[in-house]
Amino acid sequence: MAYSDKVIDHYENPRNVGGFEAADGDVGTGMVGAPACGDVMKLQIKVNPATGVIEDARFKTYGCGSAIASSSLVTEWVKGKTLDQALSIKNTQIAEELALPPVKIHCSILAEDAIKAAVSDYRQRATPTPEGVACAP
Ligand code: FES
Ligand code: FES
Repeated sequence: MAYSDKVIDHYENPRNVGGFEAADGDVGTGMVGAPACGDVMKLQIKVNPATGVIEDARFKTYGCGSAIASSSLVTEWVKGKTLDQALSIKNTQIAEELALPPVKIHCSILAEDAIKAAVSDYRQRATPTPEGVACAP
């Protein structure tokens, strides 16, 4: 299989590898797996609660070169975006940017799913406690 130069670049020099402390209230974590190949992708976003803008992103991917490249690329793309803008990232854009062949399309779907999972995890955490309900210390 021939990988595109962009896949190889992100694979050789992955951007934003690592993670954030999930205990931080401003972090959303998305963990997704591809049943077909068993690859696993963890993507985290750090959100500015005042503006709803994603300020930073990290990933760890146990998977193929295309999955690593897809997650590296989306951590770059989501920075500076609002949560809604991040949700609008489509796997087809990722696949196109990386020139993924048809058998590797599911790797880009994994990245789209990981963003969606991270955003929904953040939103769940950020949901304000209903008024009158005391917070446990
Ligand atoms: Fe399954 Fe790439 S081969 S994520
Ligand atoms: Fe969870 Fe207050 S933050 S109950």
